[in-house]
Amino acid sequence: MNRDQKFFDMYSLVIGVLALFALGIYVGVTKLSDMTQGIYTVDSDEYQAAIQDRIKPLSQVYLPGEEVATNQPVVSAAEPVEPVATVLSGPQVYNEACIICHGAGIGGAPKIDDAALWEPRIAQGNETLYEHAIQGYTGEYGYMPPKGARMDLSDAEVIGAVDYMVETASN
Ligand code: HEC
Repeated sequence: MNRDQKFFDMYSLVIGVLALFALGIYVGVTKLSDMTQGIYTVDSDEYQAAIQDRIKPLSQVYLPGEEVATNQPVVSAAEPVEPVATVLSGPQVYNEACIICHGAGIGGAPKIDDAALWEPRIAQGNETLYEHAIQGYTGEYGYMPPKGARMDLSDAEVIGAVDYMVETASN
């Protein structure tokens, strides 16, 4: 046996062992992946369902009349709150509804701070002033619209504003 032959035998043996080794790894890994990955191949329904579950939105909007999925928490709508009727104070009403005319004396309206203009009016008595402010009236200077054209105001609110105006005028 010459040296070339000896080398060739040795070489074949090493290649053979390596090939077996590689095959062993391949088979082993395939087995291992079967054992651990199991049904979880990317195409399996279970795998896809698991993904859908992980990436599903945190919440969902249901329009009225839509069936609510049973596994969703059902949030009952809050009881509608009765609006609380707020009463405006005299100055508030004045600043909202009366100042447009009575602030600068527009259209014959007695200016709020003109005591001389208010004196004869105050002399009529509060009841007359209230009535004229609530129901409106036309005098010799111009037209005072009912409630200053703010029909949403209550009588009490308008009376409060009249009191405020009378008070301001007589000070
Ligand atoms: C569009 C303008 C206008 C607005 C707004 C207005 N007034 Fe007058 N008001 C008048 C005019 C004009 C007179 C005077 C009428 C006259 O004597 O000829 C008057 C007169 C009055 C008088 C005197 C009535 C009397 O008998 O002498 C009172 C009180 C009064 N207004 C209260 C109010 C109150 C309170 C508000 C707000 C809620 C208000 N007014 C908003 C135009 C207005």
